[in-house]
Amino acid sequence: MAADALFRPFSHKSLHLKNRIVMAPMTRSFSPHGVPPSEVATYYRRRAEGEVGLILSEGTVVDRPAAKNDPNVPHFHGEQALAGWKRVIDEVHAAGGRMAPQLWHVGSARNPLTKWVAPPPVDSPSGLSSPGKRFTEPMTDSAIADTIAAFGRAAADAKRLGFDSVEIHGAHGYLIDQFFWAGVNERTDVYGGATLAQRTRFAVDVVKSIRAAVGEDFVIILRLSQWKQQDFNVKLAQTPQEMAAWLTPLVDAGVDILHCSQRRFWEPEFEGSELNFAGWAKKLTGKPTITVGSVGLSGEFIETLAKGAGSKPASIDNLLRRLEREEFDLVAVGRALISDPQWARKVREGRDSELAAFDREALATLV
Ligand SMILES: Cc1cc2nc3c(=O)[nH]c(=O)nc-3n(C[C@H](O)[C@H](O)[C@H](O)COP(=O)(O)O)c2cc1C
Repeated sequence: MAADALFRPFSHKSLHLKNRIVMAPMTRSFSPHGVPPSEVATYYRRRAEGEVGLILSEGTVVDRPAAKNDPNVPHFHGEQALAGWKRVIDEVHAAGGRMAPQLWHVGSARNPLTKWVAPPPVDSPSGLSSPGKRFTEPMTDSAIADTIAAFGRAAADAKRLGFDSVEIHGAHGYLIDQFFWAGVNERTDVYGGATLAQRTRFAVDVVKSIRAAVGEDFVIILRLSQWKQQDFNVKLAQTPQEMAAWLTPLVDAGVDILHCSQRRFWEPEFEGSELNFAGWAKKLTGKPTITVGSVGLSGEFIETLAKGAGSKPASIDNLLRRLEREEFDLVAVGRALISDPQWARKVREGRDSELAAFDREALATLV
C-alpha cells in the first residue's frame, strides 16, 4: 500500500509540518549532569535529515529537585542545559526539521535500571509509589504551586530558544498521570476527588501555566495513556463518556493536540468499535491527535526493553488505512527511528526491504 497518507503536510496554529511522522519521545540518558552534549544535537539532526516531520525530544525535566530518576536525563532549566538545547533546535532547524521538547516530571516513579536517587522531596499526589505503597508525604500546596510554575517556565524557555511546540508528559504513571489515577491520588483537596474530571485539576493548572507563558498561537501537545508502567491493566476511562470527562477539561484549558499512547496502535479502546485511543480522543474532542505503538515493528516496546525480545519490521497497511480514514492526524514512531534515522525517507521511497529490526542493544549508543 502506498504511504501517501503519511506524507501529507499538517498545520495547526503556528506549527507547520511537512508530513505526519512524529519521532516519539524516548529517554536516552546521554546528558551527564542534565546537559545535552553535541552528540545529542547530532542525533536529533539525523532524524530531521531523515525527513521526520516533528521530533519530540526525550523526556527533559522541569526545575524541581526530584523531577528525574536517572542522572543522565537532560534538564530543561539552567543556563548550560538550555544552551545544549539551543544547539539541538538550531541543528534540527538547519536540517529542515521541527521539534518540541517533552517536558517531564517523574513523580514517585522509580527507575529500575539505576540505584541513583534524586534529592528529596519526592513529588507525588499522596506519597504512594503504586496503589497501597506509601513511602513519603503527599506534595504540599507550595510544592504543587512551584511545580506548576516550573512547567510554565520551561515552556517559556522552549519558545524563547526557538522550539516549534512543547509536549507535556502526562502519561505512563509519571507525576501528572499520578494525579489522574485514583490508585495513587487520595487527596481530598482540589487536586483529588472521586471523579476523573476532578483529578484533571493538576494537569489543567499545568496547561494553563504553559498557555500563559507561550501565548495563544504556540501549539501545546499533551501525552496521555490509559496504561501505567506500574500496572498495564489500569484504564482511567472505562467508557467514551468517562474519556470525554477526562479530556474535555484538558482541551478547555488549552491543549491543542492529544498524543494518545498505546503499546499497540491497533488495539481498540472500547468494545463495539475499532477506534483506538487516538481515534476516540479525536472523535470526542474534535482536536488533532497522534497515535503511537509498534508502528512498523512486530513486537511492543516494554517487552523489547524488559525481556530483550527483538522486533522485526512489520507492515504499516493497517495504520495507513486508519490514517486515510482520518481516525487520527499524526503518527509517532519510536524504536524504528532509533534503529534507523532514515526510516521516514525509506518509507516514502517504498524501500521496505531496507527497513531495520530493533534490538535493545541499539540503546547502548547514540547514533
Ligand atoms: C528507550 C525508550 C525510551 C522511552 N522514553 C520515553 C519518554 O521519555 N517519554 C515518553 O513519553 N515515552 C517514552 N517511551 C515510549 C515511546 O515514546 C513510545 O511510546 C513507545 O516506544 C512505543 O512506540 P514504538 O513501538 O514505536 O517504539 C520510550 C520508549 C523507549 C523504547
